[in-house]
Amino acid sequence: MIDLHCHFIPNVDDGPQTVQEAVELAEAAVADGISLSVLTPHVHPTRYRNTRSSLQAEFEAFQKLLKLRGLPLDIRLGGEMRLEPESLELILQEEVPFLGTVDGYRILLLEFPHQLIPVGSEAFVGKLFDLKIRPLIAHPERNKSAMTRPERLRPFVEMGCWLQLTAGSLAGRFGEAAYKTALYFLEQEWVWVLATDAHNMKHRPPLLSEGRDAANRLLGADLARRMVQERPARILGLTEAARA
Ligand SMILES: [Fe+2]
Repeated sequence: MIDLHCHFIPNVDDGPQTVQEAVELAEAAVADGISLSVLTPHVHPTRYRNTRSSLQAEFEAFQKLLKLRGLPLDIRLGGEMRLEPESLELILQEEVPFLGTVDGYRILLLEFPHQLIPVGSEAFVGKLFDLKIRPLIAHPERNKSAMTRPERLRPFVEMGCWLQLTAGSLAGRFGEAAYKTALYFLEQEWVWVLATDAHNMKHRPPLLSEGRDAANRLLGADLARRMVQERPARILGLTEAARA
């Protein structure tokens, strides 16, 4: 399986704060059947001042460490960009890491604030499409506004955004409201991929299989596999066979 969203790089955001913890996360991902993890530190200018260039050295150091330990986990550098005006500046400076390119559109892991979907979000997303960027919206099922009114995501899906559910939401790790909202998005066929959004071993571990198994029960094995394997591979520009 391929995990498109996780926080493993030590000391760059609210993910692991020690190298040891970061390695444990990578080991747990391998144990869960993940062969490739895209590390997606928060790119959130008013809170975490990470950029594509500032993250590069930390990423390479971590990659080297995993190699030295012989851990069979490929990693790539991505980022989770917060929807706020300052982020657009970073995009224009080519300082936001993308996940990949599909059909001429760069794919951006985009996070809304947790409490709401700000006024003007549609215009922000419209601007991204103008720049040939397709947002993959991170964990919409955990957004408070979407939990109350999941229909609120419809305009974004109709604009062409893809949705990423957190695997743990389907396993009940984020409570009943997130679970029900996740089911709603699945029923609407709005969900493109599942990912772990792992941050730590205790509360947010890198477990993708539990989400895949839940999707399997709800939608069948074929679609569940596409959500954790084929679609992520396509986003990353890998052939399906290479990760099958
Ligand atoms: Fe995240």
